[in-house]
Amino acid sequence: MRDVAAAGASTGPRVLPRNDPRQYDDLAGEWWRPDGAFAMLHWLAEARAALVPPATRAGAVLVDLGCGAGLLAPHLAGRGYRHVGVDLTRSALVQAAEHGVSVIQGDATAVPLPDGCADVVSAGELLEHVPDWPRAVAEACRLLRPGGVLVLDTLNDTALARLVAVRIAERLPTVPRGIHDPRLFVDARALVAECARHGVDLRLRGIRPQVGGVLAWLLRRARAAGTPGTVPAGRAPRIVPTRSTAVLYQGRGVRKG
Ligand SMILES: C[S@@+](CC[C@H](N)C(=O)[O-])C[C@H]1O[C@@H](n2cnc3c(N)ncnc32)[C@H](O)[C@@H]1O
Repeated sequence: MRDVAAAGASTGPRVLPRNDPRQYDDLAGEWWRPDGAFAMLHWLAEARAALVPPATRAGAVLVDLGCGAGLLAPHLAGRGYRHVGVDLTRSALVQAAEHGVSVIQGDATAVPLPDGCADVVSAGELLEHVPDWPRAVAEACRLLRPGGVLVLDTLNDTALARLVAVRIAERLPTVPRGIHDPRLFVDARALVAECARHGVDLRLRGIRPQVGGVLAWLLRRARAAGTPGTVPAGRAPRIVPTRSTAVLYQGRGVRKG
């Protein structure tokens, strides 16, 4: 597998290593395009938000680690949280702030927030981008107050995930080439064990995009090609549960008191 990838939709191609965070700067114009390179992140954000309980107290805080451009924000509307986003990428944080997120530029492995400050911590499509993912998990658990909820989704460290999420998906318009380094994919059992070490009993379930919805979306997208800015009409593909966690999986757990 090549270790470098051409990234760059808006500023022209430049060659960056796999998982280089500068790819998010080159792709900054894609975040909020429902038919763009980050389309699947929108579908995943909706599915992740479904795991977030309504806030149970005034002033409740949801810390969104690796928040990107804040795609979770519309799905949290009316849930009663102050949405705090932490990310390395400034160009993404600017857009997150425009969507009501209180942003902090920082590393998920050393978050500049106090212990127990969060009612909910979200880590959506983050851990598979962090070379020291156990450190990011430790931070997520540290931020949670007792009884707080951790929600996440990531890619498993399996041959099937490498095939599906890199070799196949990077040929589709739903995943930018080179955005993943498969060497960073997150072993599901190790993740559960790491969360347990930090007082969070994480429960997992496999997820995948609904095939019919993706095919309909690809068709709408193809039909809309040639009319730039056209948003494909119709519902975005749903993320549905699947029996296997071998590729993409969600986790939800509660921090012990
Ligand atoms: C695939 S995107 C997911 C964004 C967002 N969670 C979503 O689902 O729309 C990964 C994000 O993680 C950020 N990221 C990668 N490594 C990070 C780190 N160590 N600390 C904080 N953010 C990081 C990137 O800048 C990028 O915005």
